[in-house]
Amino acid sequence: MSPAPTALDFSEVNSADIFAQRLASNRQKPLPQILTAAVQHLHELIREFRPTPEEWRDVIAFLTEVGHACDERRQEWVLLSDLLGASALVEEINSRRPKGATPNTVRGPFYRADAPHLPLGASISLDGVGEPLTVSARVQDLDGQPVTNATIETWQANAHGFYENQQPDRQPEFNLRGIFRSDKNGRIHYRTIKPAGYSVPDDGPVGMLMKQAGYPLRRPAHLHFMIKAPGFETITTHIFDRKDTHLNEDAIFGVKQELVLDFQAVEIGEWQADFTFTMARSKAGARA
Ligand code: BEZ
Ligand code: FE
Repeated sequence: MSPAPTALDFSEVNSADIFAQRLASNRQKPLPQILTAAVQHLHELIREFRPTPEEWRDVIAFLTEVGHACDERRQEWVLLSDLLGASALVEEINSRRPKGATPNTVRGPFYRADAPHLPLGASISLDGVGEPLTVSARVQDLDGQPVTNATIETWQANAHGFYENQQPDRQPEFNLRGIFRSDKNGRIHYRTIKPAGYSVPDDGPVGMLMKQAGYPLRRPAHLHFMIKAPGFETITTHIFDRKDTHLNEDAIFGVKQELVLDFQAVEIGEWQADFTFTMARSKAGARA
């Protein structure tokens, strides 16, 4: 029997095995496990495409640019994960819900954790630009019973398809963001403006790369929500405007049949939307 290869035997054939040997004694831990698997796939990719050292340096330069494009208002790594379908796949794997529960979708790069708490009926449009939209929603459990005291956090793009944190000089801080609490009937309502669909940012390394590859960058018009209630699984989701013609080609794979809704005209240029979020109890069980 020939002796096990050592690092001195590193070759095209055994590179991933040689790497794995170095982590062998820690293989039960999650980080060494995922690192070993990731390196195996990476080495396979390199063997398949056989980049030259210059081409590989271009890959590293791209990843460096992705890092440099990030700051407290912009998350280019999240955008990369979203556009590659990786975020949607992680959601699919982790948020299998009972039938009837509102599906989870990706949170996206424009979320801000510090949105203001607002009373029911308040407007989240701080600049009043756009066609008025009244949103009402009900939060219920799988039996149709109201979930009271849930927090419903929302954020959305403006009528031109931009989030407040993309345009700090043009939109008031926290424009089109707010957190509401459901009443005794599990209901909320608030005022806003009808969001426009948009293209994900293509002025950074990720958008530029994907555009070059001919990848569609459109996102159909939507409202974002995150709904939390003790004893229930948090829902992070979107509601999409049925009239948007790009429902089928969402750049980040967020559209699902259950999340498409009619924004109804109340009169010309004024809209309303009403929908129901259905929460599944968390694994721990009873409501706290
Ligand atoms: C968003 O809907 O805010 C979004 C999600 C993923 C990538 C870009 C934008
Ligand atoms: Fe969005």
